Amino acid sequence: MYETALQSALENPQNLGEMPDADAVGTVGSPDCGDMVRMWLKFTEKDGRKVIDKATFQSFGCQTAIAVASMATELIRGKTKEEALKMSAEELSAPLGALPPMKIHCGQMVEGALKAALDAEQAVAAPALAGPTLSDSLAAAGRQAGRIKIVFDN
Ligand code: FES
Repeated sequence: MYETALQSALENPQNLGEMPDADAVGTVGSPDCGDMVRMWLKFTEKDGRKVIDKATFQSFGCQTAIAVASMATELIRGKTKEEALKMSAEELSAPLGALPPMKIHCGQMVEGALKAALDAEQAVAAPALAGPTLSDSLAAAGRQAGRIKIVFDN
């Protein structure tokens, strides 16, 4: 099953290529074989949930990594960040069937690229959520200048 599924996935890879307007990108390389996968994610709001709208990938690697990345970018569509973070390499490569032992790291590399992209999305969002309040900004400016005093009106 693995060989047949691999061939059909490679004949028509899905979501291949860069995504210029992506919300996040993650890259992982395998120290074992020198291959690499990069994944781009775009989020959207759907029914009050922030979900993955689209994912694309580039793979400088073996055919298995390309096939798994292609399937993974389809499987994660519509999932929240939390749901996508829970997906294992086995789940992401499930449509291929069980990977041969020497190809297991190929699926793990795709999982790593997905998690790196999800983490990057968090890093982008965090400063906006934890941004300084107006009072923090004024206090910081006051410390810098050493002479700004905040006075509250009654
Ligand atoms: Fe290294 Fe597939 S990613 S052989």
